[in-house]
Amino acid sequence: MNEITIIKPDDWHLHFRDQDMLLETVPATARCFERAVVMPNLVPPVTTAELALSYKERILAARPEGSSFTPIMTIYLTDKTSVQDIKDAKNAGVLAAKMYPAGATTNSDSGVNSLESLYPVFEALADNDILLLIHGEVTQKHIDIFDREKEFIDQHMVKIVERVPHLKVVFEHITTKEAADFVLSARDGVAATITPQHLLLNRNDMLDGGVRPHNYCLPVLKRSTHQEALRAVVKSGSPKFFLGTDSAPHAKHRKESDCGCAGCYSAWSALELYTQVFDELDALDKLEGFASIYGADFYGLPRNTETVTLVRESWEVPSNIILPNGEPIVPFFAGKQVAWKLK
Ligand code: NCD
Ligand code: ZN
Ligand code: ZN
Repeated sequence: MNEITIIKPDDWHLHFRDQDMLLETVPATARCFERAVVMPNLVPPVTTAELALSYKERILAARPEGSSFTPIMTIYLTDKTSVQDIKDAKNAGVLAAKMYPAGATTNSDSGVNSLESLYPVFEALADNDILLLIHGEVTQKHIDIFDREKEFIDQHMVKIVERVPHLKVVFEHITTKEAADFVLSARDGVAATITPQHLLLNRNDMLDGGVRPHNYCLPVLKRSTHQEALRAVVKSGSPKFFLGTDSAPHAKHRKESDCGCAGCYSAWSALELYTQVFDELDALDKLEGFASIYGADFYGLPRNTETVTLVRESWEVPSNIILPNGEPIVPFFAGKQVAWKLK
């Protein structure tokens, strides 16, 4: 197959950042995605309906002329989030709340310290039909960084899913076989997003032959057996797994540093790279479900009606992009060939 047409996809997890960065990130996503779930880890974080609505306006203002792209807004849970905050979010049309364990990842310092005290908020989310999106890694420093996702499942995820049985939960950007197995065997109402980097790469791509900061993201790339498990699960066509790029821009100097930031800026190549992966897996017939159907169905939103077409044509990801503030950023897969191209 040299050409594939699918329902226009949505991105169920990404980071647009704010201010003039939006002029770069919003068009990059709007070029092929109809909707995107926008992560709230700004500085300061988007913790309330009011902040989410004003952020939404700034995103809409950065859309390219004539674009119908629609951001799906989220709020950031903290130790102080109240049941009233959730009701306000519902009234403002916020569809999801994001939980970062405090310190787990980029801009998560205001995240949750005591998960146990958040159960009334989880109940309120379920009662108001708001999804809970989880960065699933423990933050205990004595736990090996490669084991933090698995530990999160054992310590927290099992409990959350069992104790609030009517809550819809998305295990974001899963990276391990344990996470894939957990989601596969979990009750209805539990799903996961998977990034292009975790399907394409494993930890050798970050560390073999030299440190590659542009492949550093959180949860960190795992060994190849985990990559293989993620590839198997998308190939299976299970509707519990859908597209979430986790496109997360950081300026070049913030990544190429003695303490480099976590995050891969993949918006310019993500859809094409997912297509490449499904092609490698001989599973192009499963791409549309993963990219355009399962996420919308899980969120309870209508499926898109337009289509996009990808063609088998090699192109090279640029080595640099200049941000609106003049700083360079190195996109994910910079300088590498991608086998599929958006028509
Ligand atoms: C994300 C970011 O930069 O905001 N970074 C990342 O490595 N994935 C945060 C996140 O999604 O955990
Ligand atoms: Zn995360
Ligand atoms: Zn993210």
